[in-house]
Amino acid sequence: MNRIAKEQRMSKTILITGATDGIGRLTATKLAERGHTVLLHGRNQAKLDAVAAEIGGRAETYVADLSRISEVESMAAQVAERHAELDVLINNAGVLKTTKPRTPEGLDVRFVVNTLAPYVLTRRLLSIIPKSGRIVNLSSAAQAPVDPAALAGRVQLDDMPAYAQSKLAITIWTAELAKELDGGPVVVAVNPGSLLASKMVKEGFGVAGKDLGIGARILIEAALEPSFADASGKYFDNDAGRFAPPHAAAADSTQVTVVMTGIDEALARLQ
Ligand SMILES: NC(=O)c1ccc[n+]([C@@H]2O[C@H](COP(=O)([O-])OP(=O)(O)OC[C@H]3O[C@@H](n4cnc5c(N)ncnc54)[C@H](OP(=O)(O)O)[C@@H]3O)[C@@H](O)[C@H]2O)c1
Repeated sequence: MNRIAKEQRMSKTILITGATDGIGRLTATKLAERGHTVLLHGRNQAKLDAVAAEIGGRAETYVADLSRISEVESMAAQVAERHAELDVLINNAGVLKTTKPRTPEGLDVRFVVNTLAPYVLTRRLLSIIPKSGRIVNLSSAAQAPVDPAALAGRVQLDDMPAYAQSKLAITIWTAELAKELDGGPVVVAVNPGSLLASKMVKEGFGVAGKDLGIGARILIEAALEPSFADASGKYFDNDAGRFAPPHAAAADSTQVTVVMTGIDEALARLQ
């Protein structure tokens, strides 16, 4: 039996955020081709409908602007209402450049979309993710120590520092949640590969970029393959093609406290 036929026997239910473009869209398409039930998230219904049409039959769509935590909460409730079990959550949606870097509450959109929204979505869906399940969080090679004042919205950063700090923050909460979820599900942070040919990379760096398949392949491996079965709390660096330590600041207990406290305080303001 070939791999696709085998996987179809073991069809999984997989929610992927930011499935309307770039790495997320390609990952969703490939997972659906393999017979998995793919739940597509996006912020634009027309783009979601186009991806769902491309995938055909079994794709559900969920609309939520991840810069609005109330929309993240509603989406989690809708998913949990329709599914008793979610095998895999891929927190893929992300933002680097934006014309509106601040939310109405005064927080940086990069922290809200890249760090806080996946944290809330994950927490809200934990009750339907089995111990054998997986949570795959999109990190990046771009990571920088988190300035608590920036996370709290008291200091405004440029695009790249805001992005890099938000990506270290998601990498840190991934490791912290893994400690809490001892025994499963697996929660892992993945740098999908640098400068892959997405909208984010074209707008952010003005380059065409490398094959998006590099990113989609590693996300699918992280979601399904035995090579990630013991990966909880780890960081996979797809530029190096191996598990690796994230930015050194992730090992600094002060940074961990800054991030975990900052997340709680920011969410208290948003909820
Ligand atoms: N490409 C790379 O080289 C690279 C490298 C390292 C890490 N990453 C990470 O990989 C992930 C995917 O990025 P990509 O390169 O594929 O970027 P992309 O093509 O820009 O796709 C980003 C996805 O996130 C969605 N999104 C952005 N802001 C949102 C919001 N406020 N609410 C809901 N959805 C939102 C986008 O929706 P729309 O379609 O509506 O815009 C899109 O579906 C990101 O987390 C990124 O940081 C990428």
